[in-house]
Amino acid sequence: MSEPVKILVTGAAGFIGSNLVDRLLAEGNIVLGVDNLSTGRREFLADADKNSNFRFFERDLLDEKALHGILSEEVDTVVHLAANADVRDGLKHPRKDLEQNTIVTWNVLEAMRRVNVRKIAFSSTGSVYGEAQKIPTPEDCPFPVQTSLYGASKLAGESLISAYAEGYDLQASIFRFVSILGERYTHGHVIDFVRSLYRDTSKLRVLGDGSQRKSYLYVGDCVNAMLTIMRHKTKNKVEVFNLGTDEYVNVNQSIDVICEELKVEPKRMYTGGDRGWIGDNPFIFLDCSKLRKIGWKPTRSIRDSVRTTVRYLQKNDWLMQ
Ligand SMILES: NC(=O)c1ccc[n+]([C@@H]2O[C@H](COP(=O)([O-])OP(=O)(O)OC[C@H]3O[C@@H](n4cnc5c(N)ncnc54)[C@H](O)[C@@H]3O)[C@@H](O)[C@H]2O)c1
Repeated sequence: MSEPVKILVTGAAGFIGSNLVDRLLAEGNIVLGVDNLSTGRREFLADADKNSNFRFFERDLLDEKALHGILSEEVDTVVHLAANADVRDGLKHPRKDLEQNTIVTWNVLEAMRRVNVRKIAFSSTGSVYGEAQKIPTPEDCPFPVQTSLYGASKLAGESLISAYAEGYDLQASIFRFVSILGERYTHGHVIDFVRSLYRDTSKLRVLGDGSQRKSYLYVGDCVNAMLTIMRHKTKNKVEVFNLGTDEYVNVNQSIDVICEELKVEPKRMYTGGDRGWIGDNPFIFLDCSKLRKIGWKPTRSIRDSVRTTVRYLQKNDWLMQ
């Protein structure tokens, strides 16, 4: 364990953010949480609220002044997780990714510059690789064309962070996550399927042909990885790491686990095609050897993570309403 520090977490009431907040507090750090509660849940911070080292601020980071009076030079690191985390519906509201993922990131960087906070950790995504030429995809894989507004807006966020790191001497950790599963999961294919099966166990609509292959990571392993990276000593101003497991499953295998857990056998109705929506990447599998080399390893298989997520949702069915 390292010395306790003051950390500001944006997106603190979100799925990953609230898990990170709990871990940081358990380690004795002082945590400032910022969130506009657009997709985050205040309930996820119930344990954090009991800790005197935690303060929550309901703010919209699209407002340039949102961090005024909250972020000060006493803050060691900003962990910037606030975003529109939805990949699939980007084309329905093309401005959203630009605003929530790129402009908000710039606002955070400007707020840091103003009060001279020098360390940022940023949640990017494996989606920035588009349809990667190399699988498993390493961090230095050449980027082909961007295939989603989400990926494009996150890559723009990464670029702004790198330029600020170079220009204003920041230290940046950039995390390119695969899809994350586990406690407080609120969006993605597992909740979509569970929600649908709660309504009707007889059939399940599956986007695409079910053969899309994806890698997933358990949220506890994700938080461990983020902390390992943030504490890793490096001379580089910007360090980019893939975060994922050494395996993948296809959508049908994921459905098998969900159905087993729920004890249902729906008829699967496929919408067809090798991808679920425009921009869906039929094969996401990241090379995470760089992260492994600095001492991290996952503790859970993808199937275990899917199971944990289904059980969590069963116990917290308010999240499916
Ligand atoms: N969950 C995944 O599978 C996954 C995969 C890759 C990358 N990521 C990234 O990790 C981060 C966290 O994702 P998550 O799954 O916890 O999503 P989430 O939606 O649960 O969390 C995002 C949080 O940001 C908050 N937020 C959004 N816009 C805001 C704004 N303008 N001002 C203040 N708060 C705002 C939301 O209310 C929410 O609490 C995101 O940046 C996401 O893009 C997540």
